[in-house]
Amino acid sequence: MTTPRATQRVPAKPAAGYPTIRGWGMYVPERVMTNHELEKLIDTSDEWITARTGIKERRIAGPDDTTSSMAIEASRRALERAELMPEDIDLVIVGTATPDFLFPATACLVQDALGISGGAFDLEAGCTSFMYALSVASAMVQSSMRNVLVVGSEVLSRILDWSDRSTCVLFGDGAGAVVVSEGEHARFAPQYLLGSDGSGGPALCVPAGGSRMPASEETVRQRMHFVKMAGPEVFRFATRVVADASRQVLARAELSVADIDLFIPHQANTRIIDSAVRRLGVPTDRVFINIDRYGNTSSASIPIAMCEADEQGRLHPGDTVVMVGFGAGLTWGAGAVQWAAHLLPERKPELVASAVGS
Ligand SMILES: CC(C)(COP(=O)(O)OP(=O)(O)OC[C@H]1O[C@@H](n2cnc3c(N)ncnc32)[C@H](O)[C@@H]1OP(=O)(O)O)[C@@H](O)C(=O)NCCC(=O)NCCS
Repeated sequence: MTTPRATQRVPAKPAAGYPTIRGWGMYVPERVMTNHELEKLIDTSDEWITARTGIKERRIAGPDDTTSSMAIEASRRALERAELMPEDIDLVIVGTATPDFLFPATACLVQDALGISGGAFDLEAGCTSFMYALSVASAMVQSSMRNVLVVGSEVLSRILDWSDRSTCVLFGDGAGAVVVSEGEHARFAPQYLLGSDGSGGPALCVPAGGSRMPASEETVRQRMHFVKMAGPEVFRFATRVVADASRQVLARAELSVADIDLFIPHQANTRIIDSAVRRLGVPTDRVFINIDRYGNTSSASIPIAMCEADEQGRLHPGDTVVMVGFGAGLTWGAGAVQWAAHLLPERKPELVASAVGS
């Protein structure tokens, strides 16, 4: 008896268009923690935090908020915006440094909760996770997939040492998600630039809880499960890579700084952003900053910034957007994309109301 030949065919992908961001959504916990509140917990001041970082307040996860629950809510909103159903999604990638578990992957929890039938995996590149995940999604859409859900979600408040004033004032919790799909009207192919320098790993890490240093009474006593950071070292690294990576990704896209409609840097410190923006020469009115209200939400910072930029009418279909992230690894990643290219040229009125006449 001969074995029947498989009848299942791999569906052919429709004619090529460049990948684009088709939907976006965010979720942040309700609880706001101000700098004044931190003054009561540790030896710090609103003046110091504001002057050195630009942060005024951050969101802190409540008892029911987890990395997956926030990712799920942000993803629901992104799917709604993209006008897609869960069955349209071929892959879920969650970028996070604070997964619900070591395994299973947080992406699998998101996939299950939303009823998605595609693949799912987590991607960990510190605060650069979202940029890494976005570049992978873009490549998958360009090669074989229809729609990829990309999430950045973090509950950093649970791995911060709340007695260490040099780190705990910097971070916050939240999630952002986007759907990457084929954009029929894109002018240029999105470009990504990823980098890493593992020799800088010790400058920003959580030493214990992995397989090298499993949890023990000793690791807990020594507070080794919390974020450890050499702040000034990371600061110097960040100011260098943000401008360099942005320039390199623009060159790949055959664009110049003057072509940038909106620059969305990872929101880690306004002084890092200011310095990079000066080096790059991008006008300050084209730079998006919301760190004052959220602090550094790691892999969630860029998708949250995207959502707020859109809400504020600062993003219009067809705009050239440059994003750049950096973080633990050390890692960095930049992207040059055309915003919501799928909406061109028959621009959707509700999305471009603020752009009319511009
Ligand atoms: C952390 C950071 C804000 C510190 O700012 P800085 O200007 O470099 O400050 P320093 O670390 O040199 O510390 C200066 C002084 O402020 C003190 N200080 C640190 N945190 C403080 C706080 N929250 N409140 C008050 N004083 C503080 C230090 O103890 C030090 O005091 P000393 O001079 O008496 O020793 C800055 O280094 C930074 O932003 N680094 C990058 C961090 C980052 O973005 N990480 C995430 C990357 S994804």
